[in-house]
Amino acid sequence: MAETVRGAKKKVVAFTAGRRGGNTEIYVKIALEAIAKMGIDCELIRLHECNLMPCKDCLRGPCYVKGPAACILKDDGPWLAEKFLDSDGYILGAPVWSLSPCGVVTDFRDRVFGPKMDQAMWETDGIPDWAKNRVKQRPGGLISVGGALTEHWTSLGLATLYTTTFSAQTNVVDNMNVYQVADPGEALMRKDYMTRAKYLGQNVGHAVLNPQKDWENKWLGELDDGEACPGCHTSLVMAKPGRNYVECAVCGRKGMITLDKDGNICYSWPEDNKNRLTMMGKFDHAREINRHTEDIYSPHVEEIQEELKRYREMEQWSVKAPSKQPSKV
Ligand SMILES: Cc1cc2nc3c(=O)[nH]c(=O)nc-3n(C[C@H](O)[C@H](O)[C@H](O)COP(=O)(O)O)c2cc1C
Repeated sequence: MAETVRGAKKKVVAFTAGRRGGNTEIYVKIALEAIAKMGIDCELIRLHECNLMPCKDCLRGPCYVKGPAACILKDDGPWLAEKFLDSDGYILGAPVWSLSPCGVVTDFRDRVFGPKMDQAMWETDGIPDWAKNRVKQRPGGLISVGGALTEHWTSLGLATLYTTTFSAQTNVVDNMNVYQVADPGEALMRKDYMTRAKYLGQNVGHAVLNPQKDWENKWLGELDDGEACPGCHTSLVMAKPGRNYVECAVCGRKGMITLDKDGNICYSWPEDNKNRLTMMGKFDHAREINRHTEDIYSPHVEEIQEELKRYREMEQWSVKAPSKQPSKV
């Protein structure tokens, strides 16, 4: 592998969804152009061109123990996981479809990331052989692209892209929420977003070339007063009546709400080292899962067996998809 002044050559892998040559891909390529200029190798993988089946949730299945290659599904999922593990930086771009990233993104997330890639588990239980020498805090950049003229039509885009980053401790150093970019090539009519994509690439590149032991909360993107959460730099919050606080829907941070003299919402975000962008936040989550199994589920599991069998055998309404029906020839 070629060497640079900073040592072994680094690699950023960009996973992109949406149309081939579409708006998302254009912004991702602008970011990669900036990264490549910094002497970093780049790869672009089109998720829509991968053969990717939904995760079967064979809980604690072979992929946990033996790694992605042992997955029971024979498709491009394991290859995608290896591509991620062998990278030093991560970019994910996707168009918004019905408020959220297009569906392939969640299949990608569930197959490549999730509990089996959870670095918090590896810190307590030891790093599995298949991940050895590939555990790092990778910097990441997220690009969500929506066509609607109103931003709220893209509400779950960035938030959902973020959900691919928690387990493997990908630290998002920059993100961009594009809206009003709908038709083929329209990405190129927005010089502002093109510049943002270049800066996003430079920010990811900088973070890749200057690895920190702990990149948590090391944001390199623009500081925008319009963002609610100062931890993950998104604005999707859970706001329930009767509370004087909100919770960030992405990272889980708690923000206190007040109103200024003009009646505008103001947030203050107490110090927090236990949101889910942090290793401690994920330890807490692992502990709540264990507590649930030990205290709530296990003591009563025998009591439900008979009823469970009845529901499992309840097949009278199940309809088989044409692909699962016996062939007529
Ligand atoms: C099925 C479908 C649903 C869409 N829903 C939304 C939406 O909810 N909000 C939005 O802003 N744009 C929506 N769009 C528009 C796309 O986000 C937009 O065209 C985008 O530029 C496509 O990116 P691409 O060229 O990278 O594929 C939708 C497009 C499709 C095909």
